[in-house]
Amino acid sequence: MIIETERLLVRNFKEEDWKDLQEYIIEEEVLKFESDWDSTDEGCKKAAMSLSQSNAFWAVELKTKGKMIGHVYFNQAMPKKFLSWNLGYIFNPKYYGKGYATEACKAIIQYGFDNLQIHRVSARCNPDNIKSWKLLERILMRREGNLKKSYFIKRNNNGDPIWWDEYEYGILREEWEDIEYKIIE
Ligand SMILES: CC(C)(COP(=O)(O)OP(=O)(O)OC[C@H]1O[C@@H](n2cnc3c(N)ncnc32)[C@H](O)[C@@H]1OP(=O)(O)O)[C@@H](O)C(=O)NCCC(=O)NCCS
Repeated sequence: MIIETERLLVRNFKEEDWKDLQEYIIEEEVLKFESDWDSTDEGCKKAAMSLSQSNAFWAVELKTKGKMIGHVYFNQAMPKKFLSWNLGYIFNPKYYGKGYATEACKAIIQYGFDNLQIHRVSARCNPDNIKSWKLLERILMRREGNLKKSYFIKRNNNGDPIWWDEYEYGILREEWEDIEYKIIE
């Protein structure tokens, strides 16, 4: 499966993507709001292999360089009957600030609404993760809530959870169809 945009190929992961994956998941800045990854060669080879077997993860390749510069998570939430899909994304900091993540997310959401039976797309992020919620607002998703201390991915030295707040964002099919033309390029 490949989605082609102006600058990107959004496609399934390949095992050979492990080096490009390692290049960004090794960065502290990237993992600030993410679970830890095993960034060893072996860990990244295993991760690329497992991502290549999943339908939920899309590798994002920069057409001009043939390089994988990030990935997007897009998967159906449970229970399936609510037809709701969750969106997530991690990109290589070397390629921040150029709209690549926005371009990839827009393409995947468009693909989803065009080809899958989707009623709603949701995303969550830490309020301190400004780049993340700015991206969601750039594609005109609506902030619907601020969930207090709703999740944790890190623990303190005593092993206790470090609770984080989460912004919840959403967009409905009819809203996407209505606003698509207004999305800032
Ligand atoms: C979240 C993340 C993908 C956002 O990266 P990003 O580079 O800010 O997002 P984009 O690639 O869409 O680029 C947007 C920026 O490029 C600018 N831009 C330049 N050309 C653009 C274009 N053609 N289209 C859109 N934006 C463009 C935008 O103005 C914006 O700039 P700003 O940061 O000054 O507001 C990135 O920070 C990341 O991977 N973080 C680590 C992992 C993470 O936290 N994931 C989210 C967990 S909830």
